[in-house]
Amino acid sequence: MAHHNPWPDEGNTGHIWDEDIRELDNPPPLWWMLSFYMGFVMIIFYTLYYPSIPLVNTHTKGLAGWSSFKEYQEEFKVLNNWRDKKFAEEEEKLAALSVEEILKDDYLRTYAVKTSKMLFGDYCAACHGSGGQGNPNFPVLADDDWLYGGTGSAIKVSIAGGRVGNMPAKGLLGNLTDDDISHLADYVIALSEHKGDDPSVALGKAAYGKGMCMACHGPTGKPMGPTGAANLTDQAWRFSSHKEEIIKLIAHGVNVKKDGKLIKGTKNAVMPSFGKRLPNAEVNIKRLAVYVHQLGGGL
Ligand code: HEC
Ligand code: HEC
Repeated sequence: MAHHNPWPDEGNTGHIWDEDIRELDNPPPLWWMLSFYMGFVMIIFYTLYYPSIPLVNTHTKGLAGWSSFKEYQEEFKVLNNWRDKKFAEEEEKLAALSVEEILKDDYLRTYAVKTSKMLFGDYCAACHGSGGQGNPNFPVLADDDWLYGGTGSAIKVSIAGGRVGNMPAKGLLGNLTDDDISHLADYVIALSEHKGDDPSVALGKAAYGKGMCMACHGPTGKPMGPTGAANLTDQAWRFSSHKEEIIKLIAHGVNVKKDGKLIKGTKNAVMPSFGKRLPNAEVNIKRLAVYVHQLGGGL
């Protein structure tokens, strides 16, 4: 930086580099100053007009009464109105047709499935898993092993009315001994492997008769119809395939109550009814029945 200033009259600041590069002391251009002041005006305007200054528990609300949440709600309403109009015909058909009829119509079936994902996530996935794959103690909905039936209408009844599994403790008459139950557990495991006639489980087979298990599970471990009883002749376990768990199950049953309360050790297996719980229940139950049917195991 030179100390000597060869241009004393041009209004430079006296800062000179490389012999001749000078810093001048000019005011900024008018357009620049105006923008600068406009900036201040805009800041004051925005501060007053929109929510801005944080206070201890809240913030200033602004003269416009605007909030991002309100805007979201309004846009959501617009979207919903648009959707209601666009799909009014489909929704009317869902309301008018039976689950079976919807399942037969490719377009409506796809529509019902696509519009069920959110509902299933909100109302069903907590128990049945996000893809209907089940959870410990909550049945799989994505296979073709059904307690109450896998037709569209049976699934609809399950959802609308709910289901409560019932299996008595220690057999239908409550007359099984611990030994009987242990043999029975072996027999049940053999049944699932199609080895129910194996001589090694003959004692279990006899206990099956003594406990009158066939009343619900059928003479061969396969229920006579969709009564709620589990099929014992497949590898799809409603609860558990471990012998100790099967023993506990036979000893304490499912939803066994005494004096209005579940007894200790009994399985609690209740599917809540959604007839009143779902918004727009009449249509949404059909929609979900179609969805569950299409998860892979519908009959
Ligand atoms: C609180 C937990 C819970 C929720 C939430 C729930 N379920 Fe269930 N669901 C169950 C249980 C437990 C069973 C088995 C009942 C039994 O063992 O008798 C079941 C059974 C079913 C069945 C019968 C399965 C069969 O094998 O026959 C269907 C269908 C079903 N649920 C669909 C749904 C749908 C659709 C929703 C959402 C609207 C839903 N569930 C929400 C717990 C639940
Ligand atoms: C009153 C009808 C009834 C009788 C009698 C009955 N059960 Fe059950 N059993 C059921 C029902 C219903 C279920 C399914 C419960 C559920 O999912 O909520 C079931 C489930 C089972 C399971 C679970 C299967 C699996 O896949 O995890 C086994 C094992 C079983 N029963 C064995 C027996 C045996 C052994 C007897 C005879 C001592 C017997 N049950 C008697 C109704 C009955």
